[in-house]
Amino acid sequence: MKLDDIKKTYKKKIDELNKHNKFYFDRNAPKISDKEYDDLKKEIINLENKNSFLKSPNSPSNSLGYKPSKNFIKSKHRVKMLSLSNAFDENDLVNFEKKIFNFLNEKIKIEYSVEPKIDGISASLTYKDGLLILGTSRGDGSEGEVITENLKTIKDIPKKIIDKDFPDEIDIRGEVFIKKSDFNNLKNDFANPRNAASGSLRQKNPNETKKIPLNFIAYTYGYLKSSKIKKQSDFLKSLKKWGFKTNDQNTVLSSVKELRIFHKQIENDRYKLEYDVDGLVYKVNDFRLQNRLGFTSNSPRWAIAHKFSADNAYSQITDIDIQVGRTGALTPVARIKPVNIGGVVVSNATLHNEDEIIRKDIRVGDTVKIERAGDVIPHVILVDVKKRDRKSKKFIFPNICPSCGSDTIKEFNKTTKKFDAVRRCTNEGFDCEKIAIEKIKHFISKEAMNIDGLGKKVIENFWDLNLIRLPQDIYNLDYDKISNLDGWGDLSVSNLKYSIDQSKKVSLDKFLYAIGIRHIGIENAKLLAEYTKSVQNFINFVNKGKLNEFLNIDGIGETQINSLKKFFNNKLNYSVIKKLSSILNISDLKIYKDGKLLNYTFMFTGKLSDMSRAEAKSLIEKNSGSVVSSVNKKLSYLITGEKPTTRKVAQAKDLGIKILTQKEWLKLLD
Ligand code: IVH
Repeated sequence: MKLDDIKKTYKKKIDELNKHNKFYFDRNAPKISDKEYDDLKKEIINLENKNSFLKSPNSPSNSLGYKPSKNFIKSKHRVKMLSLSNAFDENDLVNFEKKIFNFLNEKIKIEYSVEPKIDGISASLTYKDGLLILGTSRGDGSEGEVITENLKTIKDIPKKIIDKDFPDEIDIRGEVFIKKSDFNNLKNDFANPRNAASGSLRQKNPNETKKIPLNFIAYTYGYLKSSKIKKQSDFLKSLKKWGFKTNDQNTVLSSVKELRIFHKQIENDRYKLEYDVDGLVYKVNDFRLQNRLGFTSNSPRWAIAHKFSADNAYSQITDIDIQVGRTGALTPVARIKPVNIGGVVVSNATLHNEDEIIRKDIRVGDTVKIERAGDVIPHVILVDVKKRDRKSKKFIFPNICPSCGSDTIKEFNKTTKKFDAVRRCTNEGFDCEKIAIEKIKHFISKEAMNIDGLGKKVIENFWDLNLIRLPQDIYNLDYDKISNLDGWGDLSVSNLKYSIDQSKKVSLDKFLYAIGIRHIGIENAKLLAEYTKSVQNFINFVNKGKLNEFLNIDGIGETQINSLKKFFNNKLNYSVIKKLSSILNISDLKIYKDGKLLNYTFMFTGKLSDMSRAEAKSLIEKNSGSVVSSVNKKLSYLITGEKPTTRKVAQAKDLGIKILTQKEWLKLLD
């Protein structure tokens, strides 16, 4: 490859990695499997190794994870939260031990603490004098997000520890996770248990975290002032004594052979465990040896993760169907000859989008390798081209919607300057059958109208029976007909009636979210509701063609405006909104203001560290305070960063206004 080509390829891969980081860490919605993600990272590191001139600040060789999302205050870990290097087979294990011998310059019998590697989210808990004072996520390894209140909702996490042996100051670290059985109820909202746990932990409101049952298992420490404990296995015992949960499968073994046998046993039985495990962690048990061994740039020399193989199998594609989603996205799905993958019979695999089919040249009749990792939808890893029939033809992606026959398009994304990978039906309305069904499913969903008795399956059933065509039909159901249907009795019908009636009272933001306009998610719906105040007002904006005015709202941009315009250009959409607004009792948005900073005003001067002014402002507003731009008597606090304006500080002093450093201010917020 030419130099320029190498650089181009490298940049492309880094961009791709960043994109997937965002899907994974910010949105909790990975688009590729862990294996594909690891492969991508490996390709980048290989390129760097071969071409020393390549380096990007975003290279996976620099960072351990991904920068924490901006919604939380960040805190530097006193001791970094490192990752582990991976072993995939016995050879890797032998090498791991060899390196230890080389480093120590002696060959000794090494004892290992062996612990299941739960696939969750790691967290660090700081205790001072027995009290839990800080809880953080791993973040990028150096600094994490402060999620103390969210972590406090987890019952496995002790808030106060009274034990004479408990260190005065210690960071306890472990894994936050969700049990497989609990995940079952959340399947529609998250791709896998790990994402559910992460999503739950990152809720801004701890009460939301509380709703998703999280667990915590402790396994190590970060900062520790002083301790007499000599071994990891003893530390695990102490953790238990102090009231933490530790893993029942933890054990101590002392040869590569023993490790291999135990690994095989747990790998075979892992489906019996209550939680997802993706390997075992082996740690040199003796703390003195651990100290001597120390760390490489991002992982300890004294520990390794021995991964389980991802579940996969070969099968043949019998057909490719195109599914149409709520926003018109066409998703190709491969129907495959049923195959057992890790104990589950798989007969469908997602092909993600049109680009993916082109990139992998996936065709009907192809023999493909399918992976099913965790609870992610099974997908095609590769095509075995050698097995392909000579007469096989490229798959032609439909350029009309298979549901309504409208044209389909790939949109041009102005920011990335690329066409979307996804092809969409141009009909954003209820006259595309598949879109309509998905829209109604969205309408009744929890965050929207929250109609309990109406699940997705019921909607499909009612659609087939011609009971529902538009959202308003829900409020005019033929209950006599329903009570005669299979599976319905008087009680379930009256429950259904009740929950439908209950849903009639809805706040404006939920309503705007429920109608399912593309790009108007919960947050944007709130912004629109705050701005327009009432549904009548909102409709007036539409009627008078004043949607552009929403550009005044911080957070609403052209993408949203264009989407709103497109939505309301469709007459049927408009009539649905009108009809619903006459049936429902839509209340103005109630903004609850009960934050710590209620009735306090703030002003900043000087440069803040670790956060922008915009973030600082939003932090204050989230806590019900407000930010002003001049020093006057009404100002409660002046917050000073680096190099504050002397005049402002003097003015504040004159008026007797309290002056805080950034640190003092953050303390105020906890
Ligand atoms: S020890 C330097 N022990 O694996 C020591 N980690 O790649 C690092 N994990 O971020 C942590 N179970 O989320 C350790 N028993 C265990 C673990 C474990 C799961 C996760 C943890 C960490 C990642 C390391």
